[in-house]
Amino acid sequence: MKIVVIGTGYVGLVVGTGLTESGHFVTCVDRDAEKIRLLSEGKLTIYEPGLEELVVRNLEEERLRFTTDIESAIDDNLLVFICVGTPSLPNGAADVSEVLACAEQVARAMKGYHIVVIKSTCPVGTADKIREVMAGITTQPFDVVVNPEFMKEGAAVDDFMRPDRILIGCDDVRVLEIMKELYSPFLRTGKPLLTMSVRSAEMTKYAVNAMLGARISLMNELANICEACGADISEVREGLMADQRFGATYLFPGLGFGGSCLPKDMVACTQFAEEKNVVCDMLKAVAAVNDRQIDQFARRIIDYYGDAIGKKRIAMWGASFKPRTDDIRCSPALRVVDALLAKGATVAVYDPVSGPRVREQYGSRVEVAAKSYAVLENADGLVISTEWREFHHPDFERMASLMRERVIFDGRNLYTPRIMAGHGFKYFSIGRASV
Ligand SMILES: NC(=O)c1ccc[n+]([C@@H]2O[C@H](COP(=O)([O-])OP(=O)(O)OC[C@H]3O[C@@H](n4cnc5c(N)ncnc54)[C@H](O)[C@@H]3O)[C@@H](O)[C@H]2O)c1
Repeated sequence: MKIVVIGTGYVGLVVGTGLTESGHFVTCVDRDAEKIRLLSEGKLTIYEPGLEELVVRNLEEERLRFTTDIESAIDDNLLVFICVGTPSLPNGAADVSEVLACAEQVARAMKGYHIVVIKSTCPVGTADKIREVMAGITTQPFDVVVNPEFMKEGAAVDDFMRPDRILIGCDDVRVLEIMKELYSPFLRTGKPLLTMSVRSAEMTKYAVNAMLGARISLMNELANICEACGADISEVREGLMADQRFGATYLFPGLGFGGSCLPKDMVACTQFAEEKNVVCDMLKAVAAVNDRQIDQFARRIIDYYGDAIGKKRIAMWGASFKPRTDDIRCSPALRVVDALLAKGATVAVYDPVSGPRVREQYGSRVEVAAKSYAVLENADGLVISTEWREFHHPDFERMASLMRERVIFDGRNLYTPRIMAGHGFKYFSIGRASV
């Protein structure tokens, strides 16, 4: 099949490249000319494990190409995926203007039948709006399908190749057959392709993120209770994990969730629900608990140093919102950086891949180290913000010898308090006794 994918960000690039892996010819379009130039040379502008190798191979096989020109790309491609961003408007609602702009461009370029597949996360009703906008521009036949994406950055290639499920919101049985055929190579292990109405598919994406956010916020609230009453959230988590009704994922307490999806989608869902006069106490509470968790973590660090914070040098391990990605959008780590900078502290960050992005965002206001131990030199404390694997078993004696003061604020509960006490560290974590 010949396919167009519009938007070559974290989602679009994985989708486009992933589809070439099953033999399709994919043209990836982006308005960012520099990104397209680099991608055409097989150079990625994002870090996603395993992706570069696939991009290079499929470029060489001439199954993948990159362009800035939507019009010429549309041509005789049957499927057109829209994967552009849907960021937050100032009131928190999702800004779908780029999605609509792409649909308009597609409608203008069409010279025959196309299926427009919406991968961007959009409020319920957007697909209908897209249909309306396109019908106002073109007399060519088309269908609009909603196919939300559930990939996790850091594991996106694997998630795309081996999804838990494929979800298709679609009203037409013939279109559904085409979508089933498209995804069949990725569902050979028996994972389901779920079909539903377009609006239910749009809502399911928000429901999934609401559920994930709720689990994390609830765990964080439980962790705070544990800390206040002498229980240990790690032990409590084991008790929860063993219960088949809950499962083991998304039960890790921490300094709060971030990233470009969960926080924005939670607020966007609240927005479109309230427009329909639906009360969203739970969704609001999930977001509020998360905000408080990040602020509370930053405050703990600031309170520890008191008035001396302005003279302190704080090292940070991890800047991305989760491990195995360079994405720092809405990263809780950066909220902590901002809070420390506001108090006059010197902040030095090490992250295995997102250092250049931190440098781009903060310039000289934050030191960015190239190595994990180098950032600890003369540090008055270490903040752990992201659970990269390399932070799990560090050389504590080497850390202690480099740091001016042996203090760790662990936002990811990577270490055992008793062991940290043995190494002479003051150790603060989440939902466990400090030592
Ligand atoms: N990042 C994730 O893990 C993830 C997961 C599931 C769903 N989503 C959703 O998928 C969508 C895309 O997310 P992302 O993280 O890939 O975004 P992104 O910001 O990384 O990428 C968006 C890309 O679209 C391009 N673009 C924007 N407007 C364009 C236009 N009019 N024409 C051509 N190109 C255009 C941008 O230049 C950019 O390269 C969002 O709606 C997001 O909520 C993201």
